[in-house]
Amino acid sequence: MNAITDLARALPASADVPATPLFGLPGQTPHERVLLVTDAASGLKAIVAVHSTARGPAFGGCRLWHYADDLAALTDALRLAQGMSFKNALAGLPFGGGKAVIVRPEGSFDRESLFAAFGRAVQSLGGRYITAEDVGTTTDDMRVVRRETPHVSGLPRDGGAFGGDPSPKTAWGVFVAIDAALREHLDRVSVEGATVAVQGLGAVGMHLAAHLHAAGAKLVVADVNAARVDEAVTRFGATALSPEAIVAADVDVLAPCALGAVLNALSVPRVRAKIVCGAANNQLAQPEDGDALHARGVLYLPDYLVNAGGIVSVAREHLGQGDEQSVMREVSTIGERVVELLERVRREGRAPGRVADDWARERLASRL
Ligand code: NAI
Repeated sequence: MNAITDLARALPASADVPATPLFGLPGQTPHERVLLVTDAASGLKAIVAVHSTARGPAFGGCRLWHYADDLAALTDALRLAQGMSFKNALAGLPFGGGKAVIVRPEGSFDRESLFAAFGRAVQSLGGRYITAEDVGTTTDDMRVVRRETPHVSGLPRDGGAFGGDPSPKTAWGVFVAIDAALREHLDRVSVEGATVAVQGLGAVGMHLAAHLHAAGAKLVVADVNAARVDEAVTRFGATALSPEAIVAADVDVLAPCALGAVLNALSVPRVRAKIVCGAANNQLAQPEDGDALHARGVLYLPDYLVNAGGIVSVAREHLGQGDEQSVMREVSTIGERVVELLERVRREGRAPGRVADDWARERLASRL
């Protein structure tokens, strides 16, 4: 064990994340660059993790979140940034992977000053990192960032050019992936009649529920926000379950669309869905949780493969390429990658998470 690992082990781990080595996650390639930023005037405490620029500038959203401690924030940034490298590589985008997290200041704070300071931090990286919305951040926040740096996307464009909130595109990609998985894994002819449990009815989950309802699926839903549950019950005839119960719902598909680490040592034995396919980043607490699902015969589709619709949207916006139709077509190719993944899984006999990780690493190495 070297000194760095010793130090990492000595640091206290938060309740649900293991200790974080400072120079890379276990078993993964280390991050190229990690920026810790503070700004006393605005209260900004942010981490920008640039995992890889091998395929192009690191592209990934900015999360505003309350963390148990700084180490939990660092772990989140590192894991999310690496996930973006994998996501962008599998989606065939000319970008590397990065992610930013802003530690939510305690009490009231000046949101505009906070995001202006964050924008200056992004600018200081000179284009190595491009940011956009993520959990806890909005289009309006990105407008503030835009005043400080051009390296930001996810903004409505003047004159009708393509751009804006990526969430509907993320939801469409997850829908396409669910459709492909139902056909390939359960031999169904379509989504019609399938039962799907949507955990989290936020920007992505509500759009996903709408697509599923329109396609004739039966919905089971949960959210900690009761108003969102009521909306889904009214609009889609959904059955409401508690946030604790939905992971164990007896359905065809479980679609986690809330937060990460929902698939862990405690929850995996309770999963009764035949397929897990949702938008939430970092659904597996540990890679071994994916192995455990595989051993139980549950098909887990890796989050970074199926939730790439949003990054495709902000990437095309940033490149000034495409329009609504062409971006939707590009997002729909997620279905083809689900089919290819399942072929690889059948060939290799390993859990889909392991197979997809290696597939993404191949693409990172070859830069194709
Ligand atoms: P959001 O913040 O709009 O929605 C999250 C929803 O989950 C909220 O309605 C919240 O009340 C609910 N929630 C929180 N804790 C819960 C719990 N314990 N049980 C049930 N519901 C709970 O976030 P958004 O944008 O919809 O993203 C959802 C997930 O998808 C996140 O993990 C995000 O990182 C991921 N994602 C989002 C993308 C996007 O385009 N918005 C792109 C790729 C990934």
